[in-house]
Amino acid sequence: MPIRLSRRTLLTGSAAIAGAAMLPRVPLAGEGKAIDLTAGPARLPLVGKGHPETLVWAYNGRVPGPELRFRQGDTARIAFANGLPEVTTIHWHGLRVPNNMDGVPHLSQTEVPSGGRFAYEFALKDAGTFWYHPHSNSGVQLAHGLSGAFIVEEREPIRVDRDLLWVLGDWRLTKEAEIAGGFGHPMDSTHAGRIGNTVTVNGAILDEVPVRAGERVRLRLINTANARVFALEFKGHDPQVIALDGQPMPPHAPKGGKVILAPGQRADLVLDMAGKPGERFDVVDGFYPRMAYRLTRLTYGTEAPLRESPLDAPIALAPNPLPEPDLANAVRQDVILDGGMHGAMPKGAGPRGPFWALNGQAPMGHHMEPLITAKRGQTLVTTFVNETGWWHPMHLHGFPFRVLKHNGEPTPHREWRDTVLLGPEETAEIAFVAEEAGDWMLHCHILEHQETGMMAVLKVTA
Ligand code: C2O
Ligand code: CU
Repeated sequence: MPIRLSRRTLLTGSAAIAGAAMLPRVPLAGEGKAIDLTAGPARLPLVGKGHPETLVWAYNGRVPGPELRFRQGDTARIAFANGLPEVTTIHWHGLRVPNNMDGVPHLSQTEVPSGGRFAYEFALKDAGTFWYHPHSNSGVQLAHGLSGAFIVEEREPIRVDRDLLWVLGDWRLTKEAEIAGGFGHPMDSTHAGRIGNTVTVNGAILDEVPVRAGERVRLRLINTANARVFALEFKGHDPQVIALDGQPMPPHAPKGGKVILAPGQRADLVLDMAGKPGERFDVVDGFYPRMAYRLTRLTYGTEAPLRESPLDAPIALAPNPLPEPDLANAVRQDVILDGGMHGAMPKGAGPRGPFWALNGQAPMGHHMEPLITAKRGQTLVTTFVNETGWWHPMHLHGFPFRVLKHNGEPTPHREWRDTVLLGPEETAEIAFVAEEAGDWMLHCHILEHQETGMMAVLKVTA
């Protein structure tokens, strides 16, 4: 029985300090050197002092996995070893990699058996905040802690005083701080997915983040949760969004002051610490309004401000070299999201699903007929139509896309993303160039939806 290691744990909980949740950083990898990454079981103090340790699955014994850092133009080489009791793969979420490096079992690679190895290698075309996670048995493997940040630094980074990373995690734990079972339960699959009862930042409950008055921080946010959506509000501060899903966009204040992060999504913020020495400000997650809670608190040190007025330096990032969609010659297609509780269940649905479908189609076993077929170089304009009563972050592998319209209205920034969030009954129109041949996944990043039908293939032919 999952108990609430409650909001209260989050509010008053352990005396975790920011230092305890600092991520070990893999130094910028030199050309040619491979980084060893091993997945396996580990015991970690997830909830903090006064609670038992949690048996997790981790990369290199850490949750989240090591922060992999490269520079744009580098080649990433990852020597992966599978120490898990089951098969796995790694997907490099948001990165433009060759199809055979994309980590999708039965589609782009053979699963890495327990005890097996796989060498991933790809050039880094884009700078930004990305992440990595398994694509086998995803609902179980991610919920056990397998994910990590993948940061590609710009050739010319913007000037900030500190670059901070918050990897957001969401866990469903028992009273004993063990990961609760019940994976694949239709109650999660047909509703909002496996939403947990304990939220972590960099693998720990984070009570305080020490900051200094006057400093400028670049804050990278990654939502690695199976199903939880975040809406972060930085009380007393005026964050500027400079990138979404790793892709730069004109700096702007988030709509309604809230940074929305659905599973899979990232945001890069510039935060000028405008408070005074000794002050404290809450960071609140209010996506589910009746369950709003304090995620953490910005705690100002007592030292004198670093500077009296905000740093006068540009914060706009240079765009990545993405191919621009050719809208005049685009192939257009609708993708209808259907299913879920109170929705139309796909034909042939059994007690374990499929519960969801894209254009009436759900994968059967490992076999997936392509939902969309395109020629390499073709521009596609795809309209997602959510006919369900649920939220769905739709993620496309291989090709970052521009979001052209939301509910029929042009978007102000036509932002590049790799995951677009659709609310109940909403629509979103996206455009991208299918620049690489191969079979690419398109799926909802609520993993319990992905695994029960909300998953399809885009086939790009040479
Ligand atoms: Cu991050 Cu196919 O997913
Ligand atoms: Cu979904």
